[in-house]
Amino acid sequence: MRVCIVTFGCQMNDYDSGRIAGMLRDRGADLVEDPKKADFIIVNTCSVRRHAEDRVLSLLGKLRAWRRRDPARRLVVAGCMAEREAGSIAGRFPHVDFLVGARRITEIGRLYDAVSSGRPAARGGPLVAVGDAPGGDGVDFGDAPAVRPIAHQACVAVSRGCNRRCSYCVVPSARGPEKSRTAEDIEEEARRLAADGVREITLLGQTIDSYGRDLGDGTSLESLLRRLYGIPGLLRLRFITNHPANCRESLFRTMAELSDKVMPFIHMPAQSGSDRILKLMRRGYTREKYLRLLDAARRLCPGIGIASDFIAGFPTESRADFEDTLDLVRRAGFQSCFLFKYSPRPGTEAAGMPDDVPEAEKKARHAELAALQAGISERLNRERIGCVEEVLVDSPSKTDPGRLTGRSRSFRIVIFPGGPDLIGSLVRVKIEKATALALYGSLVR
Ligand code: SAH
Ligand code: SF4
Ligand code: F3S
Repeated sequence: MRVCIVTFGCQMNDYDSGRIAGMLRDRGADLVEDPKKADFIIVNTCSVRRHAEDRVLSLLGKLRAWRRRDPARRLVVAGCMAEREAGSIAGRFPHVDFLVGARRITEIGRLYDAVSSGRPAARGGPLVAVGDAPGGDGVDFGDAPAVRPIAHQACVAVSRGCNRRCSYCVVPSARGPEKSRTAEDIEEEARRLAADGVREITLLGQTIDSYGRDLGDGTSLESLLRRLYGIPGLLRLRFITNHPANCRESLFRTMAELSDKVMPFIHMPAQSGSDRILKLMRRGYTREKYLRLLDAARRLCPGIGIASDFIAGFPTESRADFEDTLDLVRRAGFQSCFLFKYSPRPGTEAAGMPDDVPEAEKKARHAELAALQAGISERLNRERIGCVEEVLVDSPSKTDPGRLTGRSRSFRIVIFPGGPDLIGSLVRVKIEKATALALYGSLVR
């Protein structure tokens, strides 16, 4: 059958979609980009903000006609929204055939087998598989995606779920408690990937600092990095996402020790610069603790790139709270930030708080933060002018096929003239120009 996978959400969802793609390709599926050309569509969904859900709902509405046109077609809704909203999706969109939660995606393989061998879909509503898989311990890491957008880059999930309870967040309810994958398993996977031409591996976990704690055998992110460091062929290792309440200085020491492979970059969301709001968010740290962690990171890993996330307009956020956030951003010197307007999520603790920052004010605060950070990113990027960056070449530039795009060691985008033969190799680029988003230069032979 012709299969199309449409993905919303974070890198964990991209990862899952890649796994689904590999699973179905092994079963003989023909993967297509255009949903209109498919007989079997999988929408892998995200619940993190209302906007993400709205985009999914609008797509599901549009697929009604597609589904009707041919009775052999099948529509699968997978991922976090399937987990949280199975009942309401089934009620509102009777043309959905299957709902498969984020912890059950391997069942899509079996569904595909049933459908492609001509067995009919369930009558009287969609087939629903959510929660933990029956039997076993509920975690199914499977193999890393065999289908990768860039052949020499791969993500590897090292843990699933999240044990924290940030008051605004749906991830624990969608993905369940944190479960780590064994270090042996991850190493084996990484070796296979490196043998398959992968040069850069990104380890994925919601709070990657706590990786391994539930294994109870002393495994940690640090010990995992040491283990993966020796893999031949692997040039770069990185990991996301760090949580400031769990992150320790020992991580930066390990990064410094392994600095020829482990990239000097962390993504460690602060969410707010106001202690009062951080408390309401149940983040488990103060702005001072956060800033001290950044100091430690820079002391132990000079030149480290630091990225963060912020939520503007959390319940009861006053102008003074927001000024604290602006002040934190000014002090922190982030390489980049992901900025979001607060979106109340049903079932979370914060949904019971007043969503009292008006939408226009959320938008204004979001824009103010974006403008502040753009200035900082540009200033920090301009400091690289004249320097030579080591770049792993990703692909031809989307806007100019005569140029290549890649990432520096601190994960900055670098664009320079060059031919496709360089893709997947490490090159040196002298930086001549910089914007808030990228560095531009030319190859140093
Ligand atoms: N595990 C990561 C974040 C995962 S969600 C961590 O703890 O840092 C990705 C980002 O979405 C979060 O960092 C947060 O900034 C944003 N986010 C999550 N829930 C949100 C909500 N209800 N409204 C607005 N932004 C939200
Ligand atoms: Fe959500 Fe907090 Fe867990 Fe991140 S740490 S996934 S924000 S609950
Ligand atoms: Fe990711 Fe969205 Fe789920 S951010 S974990 S796909 S709710």
